[in-house]
Amino acid sequence: MIDWLSPATAHLKALHISMLVLWCAGLFALPLMLSRHDRAISQSDYGRVRRATHYGYIFVITPAAVLAIASGALLVFLREAFVPWMFAKLIFVALLVVSHAWVGHTISAVAEQPQAHEPPRPLVPTLLLSLPILAILALVLAKPDPGEIPFPDWLVAPRDVQLPFDVPRR
Ligand code: HEM
Repeated sequence: MIDWLSPATAHLKALHISMLVLWCAGLFALPLMLSRHDRAISQSDYGRVRRATHYGYIFVITPAAVLAIASGALLVFLREAFVPWMFAKLIFVALLVVSHAWVGHTISAVAEQPQAHEPPRPLVPTLLLSLPILAILALVLAKPDPGEIPFPDWLVAPRDVQLPFDVPRR
């Protein structure tokens, strides 16, 4: 489909894997760093950990997420990966994006209303994050056949129902 890019597939996959390693590592690290936003520590230590969290999110983890997703999107076309495991993987990637947005929201809430917003404990976010990451790795490494993925019936067979709006005739 984009033949002129085919020779770069291996490099693109290397970029994809390095960026997603950085992204996932950041999603684990940031809740841990947020939990160090403890008002009992000295003002200078508090400022240092807050800046590291904020800049890490903006200048490292978010660009890594964008590059992981962009290189993954290009790989879909280069590897012609229009297959069920890929679409199942995208559902779990969406959960990672939700987790990324939650971390960003928490960082800004802690910075803007330090008195009102207590940083969450890292255990639950870390455990929750492990689930989509393990599911993605299982899907992408095993590349299961369509029959092995338990899609609900309504996703795999035509429903023969009328759409709730008029469809123009061809
Ligand atoms: C929108 C996001 C993403 C898209 C569109 C995407 C797409 C792809 C595609 C098309 C491949 C190549 C598969 C092949 O060569 O057969 C790939 C490889 C891979 N992806 Fe993703 N990916 C995304 C995000 C992620 C995330 C978040 C992870 C892990 C947490 C991940 C883990 C991997 C791994 C480990 C490989 C190498 C698999 C192999 O070569 O056998 N991807 N991805």
